[in-house]
Amino acid sequence: MSHSETFFDYRDLITGVDTKIPLKNGKLVPAINFDNAATTPPFNYVIEKINSFLPYYSSIHRGNGFKSKLSSDAYEMSRDIVCNFVHCDPQKNTVIYVNNTTGAINKLSYIFNNLYKNSIILSTRMEHHSNDLPWRSKFKMDYVEVDELGKLKLSDLKYKLKKHHGKVKLVCVAGASNVTGYKNPIYTIAKIAHHYGAEILVDGAQLVPHYPIYMQQKSKEESIDYLAFSAHKMYAPFGIGVLIGPKNTFSNAPPEYSGGGTIKVVTDNSVLWDDPPGKNEAGTPNVLGVTALVSSIKVLNKLSLNSIDKRESDIYNYTLNKMLQLPDITIYGDTNPGCDKVAILPFNIKGLHHETTAKLLSDLSGISVRSGCFCAHPYVQRLLELSPEEINYFKTHFNNFRPGIVRLSFGLYNTYNEVDILIDTLKKIIKNKK
Ligand code: ALA
Repeated sequence: MSHSETFFDYRDLITGVDTKIPLKNGKLVPAINFDNAATTPPFNYVIEKINSFLPYYSSIHRGNGFKSKLSSDAYEMSRDIVCNFVHCDPQKNTVIYVNNTTGAINKLSYIFNNLYKNSIILSTRMEHHSNDLPWRSKFKMDYVEVDELGKLKLSDLKYKLKKHHGKVKLVCVAGASNVTGYKNPIYTIAKIAHHYGAEILVDGAQLVPHYPIYMQQKSKEESIDYLAFSAHKMYAPFGIGVLIGPKNTFSNAPPEYSGGGTIKVVTDNSVLWDDPPGKNEAGTPNVLGVTALVSSIKVLNKLSLNSIDKRESDIYNYTLNKMLQLPDITIYGDTNPGCDKVAILPFNIKGLHHETTAKLLSDLSGISVRSGCFCAHPYVQRLLELSPEEINYFKTHFNNFRPGIVRLSFGLYNTYNEVDILIDTLKKIIKNKK
């Protein structure tokens, strides 16, 4: 091992890090997960809290029994914990529970469609489809372009906001890219958006688990209006996500889903909606998901997101440095170690299809990665510099080795030893590919 291991304490926090899985040759080895941008394993603490809560688990907002009241109180009190975690203004904002980031953005797009029907939404060419398609289906859209390294062009943001003469109501931007890991300058983007009369939505799915976010800034202009994120990427499974935004927005529009829990009064021919967030959480709420989320927040706070960022950056830089020394590897985006990003490393082995590389990593060493276009097709098309003809061809030729990328995405529990296994496996794959 070329680097001293100092992180076993972090590994002790995680369920399943040493689970053995079979290689192609049948040998059992500990699974290595470099696919944390998709889903992280749970914290042990989260599972313990779920188990200790289960004997008290009962219906939320729907009963007067002791357990029901206890469950309802825990559910409601969690909103302050979530708000504090992302430094939102509890007076101004509401914390709405959804099932994941995609659900959050779809919900907001529905509300915006009610309030601002003929406005323009400005997304970016870096976005996950979840921060593009829900808007595309309802609004006139425009997109901020990326440069040759795949970074957002702030000059294009300004240009497009100016061009639309105040008609852009919302700028939708990833806190960090799920493909390249770039952290976007969200507070600067907020300031620019606000200057032109638009609000800002940050898709925090890839940022919130890895880096502190401050929705409320000293200056109102730099504050974040809306934030969406998912617990399953922050060591808390059980299907919960969060949408945070100004109470006013949600007060002023009907909810996307109606039904149980959303109203104050219903008569034969009228409906008086509840206030947000109740109005926006139809059906029996997911209190187990919320229990998982707040337990995970407790651990993340204790570890400190700044320490997590440092640790993940160190392991990213270690991997990057080793990979830059390998022959026949293409790394996408900025390979400067000082680049401001979360620990995501997109690459390909020259002459090998991305799916083949991903399969070999799993078959030979039990390493999990994601490969493909990561629900960000327009962005990956740009990173791969595909021509319009190639893009057109693959629109109809799904099975013909569609272009894509292999992605490594690190969590706080990954180790240098795991990276060494990755590098040895890549060397073998490269050597044997011809
Ligand atoms: N959006 C998640 C990813 O990038 C699922 O893998």
